[in-house]
Amino acid sequence: MDIQARIQLAMEHHFKEVLVAGTPPTLKAAMLHAVFPGGARIRPQLCTAVAMVCGEDSPLLTDAGAVALELMHCASLVHDDMPAFDNAALRRGQTTVHAEFSEPIALLTGDALIVMAYQVLLSLRGKQPQCAGYAERLLEMMAIVSEGVGAPRGIVAGQAWECETKVDLWQYQRAKTGALFSASTAMGAVAAGANPAAWHVLGESLGDAYQIADDIRDVIGHIDLIGKPVGQDAEHGRPSAAQALGLEGANAQFKHLIDTAAKSVPNCVGRDLLRAMIFKESERLVPQQAYQDYLKNQQSSQVSTV
Ligand code: IPE
Ligand code: IPE
Ligand code: MG
Ligand code: MG
Repeated sequence: MDIQARIQLAMEHHFKEVLVAGTPPTLKAAMLHAVFPGGARIRPQLCTAVAMVCGEDSPLLTDAGAVALELMHCASLVHDDMPAFDNAALRRGQTTVHAEFSEPIALLTGDALIVMAYQVLLSLRGKQPQCAGYAERLLEMMAIVSEGVGAPRGIVAGQAWECETKVDLWQYQRAKTGALFSASTAMGAVAAGANPAAWHVLGESLGDAYQIADDIRDVIGHIDLIGKPVGQDAEHGRPSAAQALGLEGANAQFKHLIDTAAKSVPNCVGRDLLRAMIFKESERLVPQQAYQDYLKNQQSSQVSTV
């Protein structure tokens, strides 16, 4: 089974366990809308891939960690799209949760998904997979996801920087996006009983690259291709890598971070596969031909207005 199919099955399994009879129907519909069919599922893929190359001995732990990460991510998007933040109407090519269901339901949907991430991890309590240090791993996984999401360095802190007058761009980006990537590699390693420190540079550089790519796409992308509105960073006055470094500077920094990520993969079976995955993902994030075409169009429209 490929990683995406495995993640899909695990997500569906945990939703069946949590959304039992008695859940308010609109909340249930909104939670499903926020998570399915979903986006690239990059964080659970990263977690699963790291666990596998670390010689995974408890797929149950890996899957629960992967699902918890994706639920936190989906929750952050539901809240981020609300009028109090980016006020976006489209996400992943479909209506955002607040636009489809209402603001109170969107707020509660985000909350419910955050709590569900812990429910997923806690659902493994009674199970006894045959691997050493199972309970300790589970506890560590809860700490990892908390670090990636809460204050002072996780998503919540990142979004809160938007309410400050003085913001360090890299601190902001690392918190709002990078922290959950660092959590993803650490989660995969811990689920497999391996040392998360060896995977730290990979998570951190991929996370940094990811938000820079998102900022570039916010400038060069098109709503039909990326499934969400573009030009948001300028519209809301958000600090962005494209604005701070210029498009070319941002693209150079993006490519540098991808190289750093690929080089950082520890020597292990599956190293080449993981590196290939990183380069493939990098091309999905910022297709270099589309980027060059955008620059050419910009240059020719500047020439024609002179
Ligand atoms: C979007 O994340 C928000 C950022 C942190 C940049 P993704 O690009 O991973 O979103 P989906 O899950 O694939 O839609
Ligand atoms: C948000 O960053 C990251 C989150 C923690 C939700 P953006 O606001 O740039 O993400 P998009 O562009 O809406 O996906
Ligand atoms: Mg946004
Ligand atoms: Mg963005």
